[in-house]
Amino acid sequence: MAVAPQAVYWLGKDTLRVSAALFAENRRRLCEGLKAKEGVVANSVVLLQGGEQKQRYCTDTDLLFRQESFFHWAFGVTEADCFGAIDVDSRKSILFVPKLPESYATWMGEIYPKEHFKEKYAVDEVCFTCDISDKLTSMSPAVLLTLRGLNTDSGSICREASFEGISGFQVNNTHLHPVIVECRLTKTDMELEVLRYTNRISSEAHKMIMKHVKPGQKEFEMESLFQHYCYTKGGMRHTSYTCICGTGNNSSILHYGHAGAPNDKTIVDGDMCLFDMGGEYYCYSSDITCSFPANGKFTADQRAIYEAVLKSSRAVMAAIRPGVKWTDMHRLADRVHVEELVKIGILRGNVEEMMKAHIGSVFMPHGLGHLLGIDVHDVGGYPESVERINEPGLKSLRMGRLVQERMVLTVEPGIYFINHLLDQALANPAQSCFINNEVLPRFRGFGGVRIEDDIAVTASGIELLTCVPRTVEEIEAFMADAAKPFSPVVGSEQL
Ligand code: GLY
Ligand code: MN
Ligand code: MN
Repeated sequence: MAVAPQAVYWLGKDTLRVSAALFAENRRRLCEGLKAKEGVVANSVVLLQGGEQKQRYCTDTDLLFRQESFFHWAFGVTEADCFGAIDVDSRKSILFVPKLPESYATWMGEIYPKEHFKEKYAVDEVCFTCDISDKLTSMSPAVLLTLRGLNTDSGSICREASFEGISGFQVNNTHLHPVIVECRLTKTDMELEVLRYTNRISSEAHKMIMKHVKPGQKEFEMESLFQHYCYTKGGMRHTSYTCICGTGNNSSILHYGHAGAPNDKTIVDGDMCLFDMGGEYYCYSSDITCSFPANGKFTADQRAIYEAVLKSSRAVMAAIRPGVKWTDMHRLADRVHVEELVKIGILRGNVEEMMKAHIGSVFMPHGLGHLLGIDVHDVGGYPESVERINEPGLKSLRMGRLVQERMVLTVEPGIYFINHLLDQALANPAQSCFINNEVLPRFRGFGGVRIEDDIAVTASGIELLTCVPRTVEEIEAFMADAAKPFSPVVGSEQL
């Protein structure tokens, strides 16, 4: 079905126009994948349930709605409490929307007719959710394919579609999940366009913060500035995850910024800042970390650690291409860190032996990076055929498979000085023998450095989506002059 030109998500001004054709293409890929799957019979119908509008605890205060990710991928619908069906053979799409009570018009606004949603989302038919059982019965499906499967990052099982009367249908809940996850793993041209946009706006927001940050300000002021920029310039009402604005020792706390540590420290002269923030547009994510000194000038130690991380980031980016193992990329980053920490004097000894003793994971306990898409930790990192490697560091890697063209990934190496990990390593003779405890104490309280870029894998390498100052020289020059724009030597182009 051709998609009408008015079926576009657009928030006006300079925000991105996203055609409903993006989701028609996703549905097409899904149907092709299902038809090719053994066990999927003719006359199967996919049934997905969208996210529900929820309230705060027992109150009537609505939480800000964000669509469920699989449903968004297939339909691009922004409203809550919907269902979607796709006839696999014909690719016919049916959107089910709630039949709203009259009071909705008083409290919430206009009640649109079904035709409105048909045009807005370029689906073949729109019905009310109260008629879902009757509508599906009229289609006489051989089987309803519902979504059930594990999210390998959270350990949670996704919510399977359910409606009154579903017990009258033949249901299969195992075929759909592996196929839709595999579709989400690689991005279409239209999806890449949205991810370029989320990266551009979020990169600009990070740069604006680098111009504004000053000792004496609060970390949450940086969070607020980021959100304001992304929303006002980019139409991004959501960020992809809770903003991490760690400064000083807080920059060693990997997921700082949560309710127990809510970006509330005052930024001090001499602090390293580690700001990990990404804006989300129409449910597509970005995930960018910039690390820099609060006062705009690196000390010798800050420069040394920063350049060690930059070296691993660039070594990994130069090595990524279709077919490489993501686990090897993680190991490459670890190796560069170990080599550089030897040069700095924090480690001493044979690099091979240090790799065997997993010394890298003392300084980078997280994985090198992860898939990115509608979810910031996007699905597909561990299909059933791929085992997680149970080694320090690698066990936290969110993707264990070979790199493929059209994957979008983060590359986010880091070196952190985390007291309890350093103490554990010093108490372990197999690791402490490599640590120079005359130099290490100087770095206690340093915090950490993470450099996180988003990349799209091309046929021969990568496209760098993120565009922020990265070398020490670029950062210092950029921060020194409030008026100076940043013109990258390497921008959003092939590396
Ligand atoms: N911001 C979360 C992460 O980097 O994975
Ligand atoms: Mn990340
Ligand atoms: Mn991040």
